[in-house]
Amino acid sequence: MRSHYCGHVNEALLDQEVTLAGWVHRRRDHGGVIFIDLRDREGIVQVVFDPDRPDTFALAERVRNEFVIQVKGRVRRRPEGTENPNLPTGAVEVLGLELTILNRAETPPFQLDEEHVSEETRLRYRYIDLRRPEMFAHLRLRTEVTRVMRRYLDDQGFLDVETPMLTRSTPEGARDFLVPSRIHPGSFYALPQSPQLFKQLLMIAGFDRYYQIVRCFRDEDLRADRQPEFTQLDLETSFLDEDAIMTLTEGLVRELFAQVLGVSLPDPFPRLSYAEAMRRFGTDRPDLRNPLELVDVGDLMKGVEFKVFAGPAKDPRGRVAALRLPGGGALTRKEIDEYTRFVGIYGAKGLAYVKVNDPAVGREGLQSPILKFLPDEVIAAILERTGAEAGDMIFFGADRARVVNESLGALRERLGHDRGLLRGEWAPLWVVDFPMFEWDEREGRWNSLHHPFTAPKDEHLGLLESDPEACHSRAYDMVINGTEVGGGSIRIHRPEVQQHVFQVLGISQQEAEDKFGFLLEALKYGAPPHGGLAFGLDRLVMLMAGAGSIREVMAFPKTQSAACPLTQAPSAVDPKQLRELGLRLKSPGKAVE
Ligand code: AMO
Ligand code: AMP
Repeated sequence: MRSHYCGHVNEALLDQEVTLAGWVHRRRDHGGVIFIDLRDREGIVQVVFDPDRPDTFALAERVRNEFVIQVKGRVRRRPEGTENPNLPTGAVEVLGLELTILNRAETPPFQLDEEHVSEETRLRYRYIDLRRPEMFAHLRLRTEVTRVMRRYLDDQGFLDVETPMLTRSTPEGARDFLVPSRIHPGSFYALPQSPQLFKQLLMIAGFDRYYQIVRCFRDEDLRADRQPEFTQLDLETSFLDEDAIMTLTEGLVRELFAQVLGVSLPDPFPRLSYAEAMRRFGTDRPDLRNPLELVDVGDLMKGVEFKVFAGPAKDPRGRVAALRLPGGGALTRKEIDEYTRFVGIYGAKGLAYVKVNDPAVGREGLQSPILKFLPDEVIAAILERTGAEAGDMIFFGADRARVVNESLGALRERLGHDRGLLRGEWAPLWVVDFPMFEWDEREGRWNSLHHPFTAPKDEHLGLLESDPEACHSRAYDMVINGTEVGGGSIRIHRPEVQQHVFQVLGISQQEAEDKFGFLLEALKYGAPPHGGLAFGLDRLVMLMAGAGSIREVMAFPKTQSAACPLTQAPSAVDPKQLRELGLRLKSPGKAVE
């Protein structure tokens, strides 16, 4: 049916006959001549029909956008002055000799080059949306990425092993998607949030090096970089420590960027402790292209009259921090109000600021509603510590540390983008030295910062019960340009340590036995020291494609409300199916009658 892809027709084929098949991208009538831009996966070529062949010409007149046609024709040079340097095929055209309409198409709901098509519409007609060259490029990039990944891991002796999709809950911090069992009425499988426990079992089995490109399911609030089902490059190794695993996995990312993008990333990636990342950037996934940094000023504020600052300064769980924006003195009142509203989203109760006109003269050289509350020496210390210069703006956050970190961290990110401050193209790093646990204020208990199978640092083993907060883990996260692209850890391989960690997490012996008894048991039968990591494949490809969301690099993603407009999933089900599963709905109107 075809001798060449449309996008491959070029001067090398001059005067040859070709057979092309594809979609009508555009048809133009030009004073007795018809031009058809014919499109396939590889690109677009211009086909010309002239009235010398009346039957073919008459057919060409009937063709509409997105019709599927086959064309036999001869490649010729375009007339002088009509070349299109923007197209790889732009020096040539195909003189159409025969035309077959393989299939008609209704007028598509949107033109492929139309801007501002709603995402709902794009997903509803995803098969049309995917015809757009950039969508095709994204998915081709994805293929290249997984190809390089597989080759790299293959070379390093990794075995590709599949793990079950119908399984038990693996706690990765999200809600499970449940699948009711027909054969065991009242019982449910969970779709895996990750293959975490299975890959540990594979290490106990002696597989030594495992990987899998695997779908994971998490029922959580969606964002630009979160989908209910997404793909991990998941891997696990035995007898390697965290340094060896980080070297191996950052090597994979370097290889990926070199081979796919021709970009050379730093070797090694810089490492930052969790504490330093929080202190300087307010987040454990900092975008290091952004030069702005948070500076602690709590020690200066303990004694000031201004309660908004003094309170959090004296509270051990509080934080008072400053963020200097070079050249920010030029911000308008309206812009400051907008940033104040913005930090409010993260729970900040306000956004104090000091405009720096002339730092050399102290108080007189500044403008701010809060100056009157601050003594001269505090003002001098703030200017010195933030390195303030004429024309700058200094913002302040004061609250519980979590609120200050989240709000000023987000403000830092936003200012970096709004003010065009980002430097360099790629900024990968490792964040290390994570705490084992974080305090859940609402539930009043400790949660794992990663997952409950993460090993504590050997030297902190003794702190598990006495001081969980001071206990650090052997976990590591990889961050690129402010996105967490991967995370992993050395695991607990001794059953008694695992029991201990469950205890800190408030998981009773009985509950541990019920939920993870199989793991605790397996750990007794010769578990080697082991550890690994999982990359978010969608996020990596999103970054490499320069896309704004992982939905742009997935063929059939869900909407922000976790629905698929194309298949209308999720949907009501037949009452018979429910009966077979032994289920009854509380609001039965939703089932299909
Ligand atoms: P974690 O939960 O950090 O670790 O997941 C690994 C990586 O997966 C990506 N990711 C997501 N991508 C899209 N949508 C989501 N909802 C989503 N959730 C996570 C992120 C993240 O870094 N079992 C451990 C790994 C290990 O310890 O080896 C795990 O799943 O890029
Ligand atoms: P107020 O005295 O409440 O009018 O606040 C004076 C300034 O402090 C205003 O610019 C507020 O936006 C700011 N502000 C109030 N609460 C906070 C806070 N928790 N952190 C930072 N700035 C704040």
